[in-house]
Amino acid sequence: MLDIQKIRADFPILNQKVNGKPLVYFDNGATSQKPQVVIDAIAKYYNEINANIHRGVHTLSQLATDAYEVSRGKIQNHINAKHAYEVIFTSGTTHSINMVANGFASLLKSGDEVLVSALEHHSNIVPWQMLCERTGAVLKVIPMNDKGELVMPEYVKLLSTKTKIVAVNHISNALGTINPIKYMIDKAHEVGAAILIDGAQATPHLKPDVQALGCDFYVFSGHKVCGPTGIGILYGKEEWLRKLPPYQGGGEMIATVTFEKTTYADLPHKFEAGTPNIEGGIVLGTAIDYLNSIGFENIAAYEHELLEYATEKLLNIEDLKIYGTSEQKTSVISFNIAGIHPYDIGTIIDKLGIAVRTGHHCAQPIMDFYKIPGTLRASFAFYNTKEEIDLMIAALQKAKMMLS
Ligand code: ALA
Repeated sequence: MLDIQKIRADFPILNQKVNGKPLVYFDNGATSQKPQVVIDAIAKYYNEINANIHRGVHTLSQLATDAYEVSRGKIQNHINAKHAYEVIFTSGTTHSINMVANGFASLLKSGDEVLVSALEHHSNIVPWQMLCERTGAVLKVIPMNDKGELVMPEYVKLLSTKTKIVAVNHISNALGTINPIKYMIDKAHEVGAAILIDGAQATPHLKPDVQALGCDFYVFSGHKVCGPTGIGILYGKEEWLRKLPPYQGGGEMIATVTFEKTTYADLPHKFEAGTPNIEGGIVLGTAIDYLNSIGFENIAAYEHELLEYATEKLLNIEDLKIYGTSEQKTSVISFNIAGIHPYDIGTIIDKLGIAVRTGHHCAQPIMDFYKIPGTLRASFAFYNTKEEIDLMIAALQKAKMMLS
């Protein structure tokens, strides 16, 4: 059992009022709030050890380098990567996906196929489209059903020896569906395709085990797991990271440079050109430690309770429809009230202190599937409460009355 009040006290921002009302923060799918230990770790880095990493013999540089590499090790342990050098620091999920898509440009030829799913965020569609434009490869889409689930028999039909890479999210940001990724990974491998899992929405809720999953790439963002913005992770299996060319050239990613030829540094530095987000890298480790101190099993169980509670209460509101009704779902609820634009409701409930996301959630193909302009999306974290859900329900009732 989690002591939610004690956990909430770790997050100073949750104490404040917005528009004169207590903040109810249900936009965790967009970004998570930060606990005091994370905020303190940022200040501690700048107060005590700020220096460039991997570059100096001086003490501060070594302290910063050590802290950065310790954090890499924490991420390695957290996702159960075989080697620390399979963990690449990036600026976020989008950067990680672009790195892989860009690397595949040297491996694909005209007529090869890339598979994405109907449930993807734009960041797991557009880089692959760009890759296909560059190489002449063909983008294919795994379809979804009305419940917001991927249709597995169709996925299997789309796979062939032409498929070179599959890119699919672990959890849909717009609907909360948890995809059967272990099955999808195994099926991709049966035809010799690589597979990238976008874990941006999964990592706040669960602890992925990349070796047990067997995925070739797993990517996520720091800011959704209580860490800072501008830091993220690309996990890649060693064999793939060795095969892919570097994304950017510059300092730190080289072994030797002459005007005739440059040789690249070993992993992970080959993919980490330039001065990175040192503070972000170090503090991401602090954030992961914090989440593990609460425990992902506890987090998942409590968030599931919030999901069930909110689903039941929302469905009591007349004319309210929930999009994404898979049984395999995390604590994300997308919904609309018939005849009212989600933006109008979002604006009114914001005045009542309730923060939800409105719009297409960077997943326009999902909105097109349901033939809607967008939804309201409430996404819950382990620091949210049932009392806050009650406040949202009351605010929605009020907005509905004002707008109908
Ligand atoms: N991808 C983030 C979201 O779903 C920003 O809101």
